[in-house]
Amino acid sequence: MEHVITTDNLTKKFGDFTAVDRLSLKIKRGEIFGFLGPNGAGKSTVIRMLCGILEPTAGSATVLGYDLHRETEKIKDKIGYMSQKFSLYDDLTAKENLKFYAGLYSVPKAELAGRIEEMIVMADLKDRENELVVNLSGGFKQRLALGCAIIARPPLIFLDEPTSGVSPTSRRLFFQIIRRMVSEGTTIMVTTHFMDEAERCHRLAFISGGQLMAVDSPDKLKRDVIQGMMVELDLPDGLQRIKEIEELAYVKECTIHGALLHVLLPDKGSIARLQDTLGCEAKNITPSLEDVFVALARKQRTDSKAYIGLTREIERH
Ligand SMILES: Nc1ncnc2c1ncn2[C@@H]1O[C@H](COP(=O)(O)OP(=O)(O)OP(=O)(O)O)[C@@H](O)[C@H]1O
Ligand SMILES: [Mg+2]
Repeated sequence: MEHVITTDNLTKKFGDFTAVDRLSLKIKRGEIFGFLGPNGAGKSTVIRMLCGILEPTAGSATVLGYDLHRETEKIKDKIGYMSQKFSLYDDLTAKENLKFYAGLYSVPKAELAGRIEEMIVMADLKDRENELVVNLSGGFKQRLALGCAIIARPPLIFLDEPTSGVSPTSRRLFFQIIRRMVSEGTTIMVTTHFMDEAERCHRLAFISGGQLMAVDSPDKLKRDVIQGMMVELDLPDGLQRIKEIEELAYVKECTIHGALLHVLLPDKGSIARLQDTLGCEAKNITPSLEDVFVALARKQRTDSKAYIGLTREIERH
């Protein structure tokens, strides 16, 4: 099967509020598909719909070839899902949790012991498997939750911010595991707020206000979304000077990245101009994924600003 997930104008409303607005996308088998967007963008709502937990208001989708409206139970049986607030049983041991989830997903009895052992190794839980979950640290719990989500070897796994609140070492280990699964043919849809993780996805969808703003590979997004020349400035009082820089007629955008400023200029010629005006070096850089993220989030804001401006115009008349 070419596409593991296909959505067509998938929409979710909560009362009058549209959380997901006519989302259409296709996810291929064996992809790590990343889902990015600001808080409240609708990422979890999309995942909960695709897992068959939340009923769409409009639109359609197929997941693993099953229809999202008519075959929800089949979908639930076949997929793995690690929710943003994953649930483990604190008063059971790591191993007992795995056993519980294996039972839930009907792992064949003959394979049970082997699968549990495999997950213990995968989650780097050797020697900790008989400890109560309540005594495990965040990284262990998170990998155990992943183990519970994949013990039945689902061909499609949804991971909703699987690495929030864990150490960089755990995050790296987590992604190594994911990549191994993908090399064996598993498809992964993952949400994250970490740009280094987004870089490791084959394709990324960026959503904001429930709407799909862009979908492509990280490299293509960097090339296509940012139009112009990106330069970096190292100014001692960077934060205070954003407004002044943004007000320069030829500056398209100015944002802060750590201690440095990123300035988007329309062309190469503007670099010298900016250097002359500020009296400091403007270093030409390749846009980062964070630049793409900021540009897309800003696009949404200016679009809505334009809309507010328009309604004011109408009110005035
Ligand atoms: N059950 C619900 N009832 C009403 N509104 C909801 C419900 N679930 C989500 N929402 C709203 O829908 C919007 C999208 O929420 P969602 O959780 O999908 O965002 P998200 O992109 O996952 O955000 P985050 O990055 O913070 O996890 C938010 O404004 C949220 O408040
Ligand atoms: Mg969420």
